[in-house]
Amino acid sequence: MCGIIGYIGCQNAADVVFKGLKRLEYRGYDSAGIAVIVGNKLQIRRSVGKLCNLEKELKRDPINSNIGIGHTRWATHGKPSEENAHPHTDSTNSIVIVHNGIIENYAELKLKLQKEVRKFSSETDTESIVHLIKKHYDKDLFKAVLKTLKELKGSYALGVICKDEPNKIVCARQDAPLIIGIGKGENFIASDVSALLPYTRNMIFLENGDVAEITEDKVVVKNIENSIQSREIKNIKWNAMQSEKNGYKHFMLKEIFEQPRTIEDTFRDRIYPDDGKVCIEEVKFKEEDIIKISSIYVVGCGTAYHAGLVSKFLFENFAKIPTEVDVASEFKYRNPILNNKVLVIVVSQSGETADTLAALRLAKKNGCQTLAVCNIVGSSISREATYTIYTHCGPEIGVASTKAFTGQLAVFYMLALDLASKKRTLTNKELKRYLKELWEVPLKVNKFLSIAETVNDIAKFFEHKKNFLYLGRHVNYPLALEGALKLKEISYIHAEGYAAGEMKHGPIALIDEFMPVVAIAIKSKIYEKIISNIEEVKARGGVVIAIAHDGDKKIASKSDHVIYVPSTDEFISPIITAIPLQLFAYYISVSLGCDVDQPRNLAKSVTVE
Ligand code: F6R
Repeated sequence: MCGIIGYIGCQNAADVVFKGLKRLEYRGYDSAGIAVIVGNKLQIRRSVGKLCNLEKELKRDPINSNIGIGHTRWATHGKPSEENAHPHTDSTNSIVIVHNGIIENYAELKLKLQKEVRKFSSETDTESIVHLIKKHYDKDLFKAVLKTLKELKGSYALGVICKDEPNKIVCARQDAPLIIGIGKGENFIASDVSALLPYTRNMIFLENGDVAEITEDKVVVKNIENSIQSREIKNIKWNAMQSEKNGYKHFMLKEIFEQPRTIEDTFRDRIYPDDGKVCIEEVKFKEEDIIKISSIYVVGCGTAYHAGLVSKFLFENFAKIPTEVDVASEFKYRNPILNNKVLVIVVSQSGETADTLAALRLAKKNGCQTLAVCNIVGSSISREATYTIYTHCGPEIGVASTKAFTGQLAVFYMLALDLASKKRTLTNKELKRYLKELWEVPLKVNKFLSIAETVNDIAKFFEHKKNFLYLGRHVNYPLALEGALKLKEISYIHAEGYAAGEMKHGPIALIDEFMPVVAIAIKSKIYEKIISNIEEVKARGGVVIAIAHDGDKKIASKSDHVIYVPSTDEFISPIITAIPLQLFAYYISVSLGCDVDQPRNLAKSVTVE
């Protein structure tokens, strides 16, 4: 939530910062702003709404400087307005900051500062920080920031510049991501890697408690007590092109179409179907650790939680380990039974989701073994978990998660089969069969994507419906939840996912010709059961869109529309059924003219509770 960026070097800082903000816009998009130092004055441009408004402002009134900071906002304290947009300055316009996070004690700080006759001009928690820095300022910005940080409670990634010290950016991190990009004669700060990829791949991931002073040719990282900290410079493998649309109309569509590659990349060098072997280098559990595991908790939010729900079927059926799945925001408050025999797996694309991070910390505090499934290298969750298995998806920019979901499923398949192999709960023959099925997934997804337009043709019939029901059973029940989530978040249509067997216990009352039902009806042990559920819907005048396996003739006579997907084993099927559900939501959203990549009220990375 919220993206920050800063630049110092010989390019025009306003350009670099603005381009960086464009890459960070998915983190928040209700207002944005840039501050630079020109001569010995601060120049600030801010505007409400998307970055195109700030762009107009910058065109109308350009600024040119070699140092600048910028922010794209997802409002927490104070409505989206120009006054509340960052950057924020002190009352004398000497110091200016951008901030991602929440200052929990801002109200008491504000009260104190107001008594000292410091004039506030916004409703934000952030403004207290800049007034405090000014209060402590005595010709040394770094020291003033250090003193200020000691008074803050909460989370922050901060970028600060001062008109009287125009050769440095000071930045600090506590529970919100912050990266320093190392260039030649220029340096950067940013909330994430993708903002800096066009300029450098050499990055320092700041740790909690780090405060850094950055000039164009030097980076010094210290802690809050002013002691030097040594931080490794990491070389990032992603390239700038991965964060571009590459000819697709939307990031979401590009990311859907990337899935054959991202799934394959996630499997590569980790599964060996001919030998019936899985080798996930990052996970170093010994066999005795695995035998000791009495149960697994899988914890995540939103789409990541849905991937977790699928994993329960895999851990229980393949590895015979009892598994519970929890929404992170519930897990941490419900006093779960945790001890050193419990493995807690946290799932997060961004690796920065506040609730998931808190769940991980709770698990660690209780002595659990911990494992993260993450997409972002160097993210907070990946650094704090004992082990991390990365999904090799590259940057996911569309706010609605697509390729990260199938990447997470890919990791869960491998992990469950690895555990099963080590616990000998599956035979080598069974392992080989599942691994072979997995190996074929990228090809099958590719095959389905070649007929993606058929989903568009069906979606056209339904774009004006106000409500949808999604039904699934067994391992595809979580997919019904995920399909409904995709539709509601990007097209603002009300949609509910249900376990199809639950229909008779209430939801069937909703069925009429105005309530389309998306039913996942792939071939499985319980295929006939879902067919019965479809018949029940049809008997009450409902309209059914079925997702079925290629070659299923029966389903066509039972449903109004069928989306055929390549057939696969029922346990493996969710990684394929996900694709038509994503496309269906996408095409409806496009036809309604919604903002597919940046749906209202959402942000990609939810770094506040
Ligand atoms: C939905 C979506 C969200 C995220 C959730 C968790 O399409 O993207 O529900 O899945 O906010 O985010 P991560 O995976 O970054 O922890």
